[in-house]
Amino acid sequence: MSTQVEQQQDFFKVVHERHSVRYYDPAVKISKQELEEILQEATLAPSSSNLQPWRFLVIDDQDLKGKLLPIAYNQQQVVDASAVIAVLGDMNWYQEGEKIYSKSVEAGYMSEDVKKQMMSTVENGYHHMDEARKKKIVHIDGGLISMQLMLVARAKGYDTVPMGGYDAAKFNEMFQIPAHYENIMLIALGKAAKPGHPTVRLSVDEVTHWNSMK
Ligand SMILES: Cc1cc2nc3c(=O)[nH]c(=O)nc-3n(C[C@H](O)[C@H](O)[C@H](O)COP(=O)(O)O)c2cc1C
Repeated sequence: MSTQVEQQQDFFKVVHERHSVRYYDPAVKISKQELEEILQEATLAPSSSNLQPWRFLVIDDQDLKGKLLPIAYNQQQVVDASAVIAVLGDMNWYQEGEKIYSKSVEAGYMSEDVKKQMMSTVENGYHHMDEARKKKIVHIDGGLISMQLMLVARAKGYDTVPMGGYDAAKFNEMFQIPAHYENIMLIALGKAAKPGHPTVRLSVDEVTHWNSMK
């Protein structure tokens, strides 16, 4: 019981201490192994039919970060943060259904029957979906993974800033992003040199309706 309470308090501390950080210590380099651990934890995020449309491009090479700087409208965090993670959404993501559900069956989490049902959803649903609906799913799941990534990073003592302020067309050209990937956002990740500034929120009253939107 007490352990559970402690864990919950840790979680709330992480939530309260995450702020968008725009000044990073350029001397801090997060290892590939630690970046992979952060990504691994982040991928525990939920996704539509567990089809996990997120793909990541990790940019931690200093020269490449320099090339990204003008594309991200000269936001200095791009070069000073240890890495910039481009969160992308694969518009053909549901083609991984067979692989994902087979893994679930192998792990004993799903029966063959349920796998068949899920594959029928993939084949009859996702394959025939219009582009706008597919994009919506990819962006919703992309937002969930991005949030989870930022919280995992904070829990590990690192800081982040999500970034939509970049020229996606130029980014795609520079990093040769195939056409079937959607740009979700960039996330700069590193160790703060200056804390993020506090921000306000609308009150729950201002953003919540109960039982009816009237
Ligand atoms: C999708 C998205 C795009 C954002 N783009 C940028 C950006 O390009 N540059 C930046 O400095 N902050 C960016 N932000 C950070 C927001 O300004 C920040 O989250 C907001 O002011 C609340 O502050 P907090 O994150 O510290 O709580 C972005 C946030 C989101 C969710």
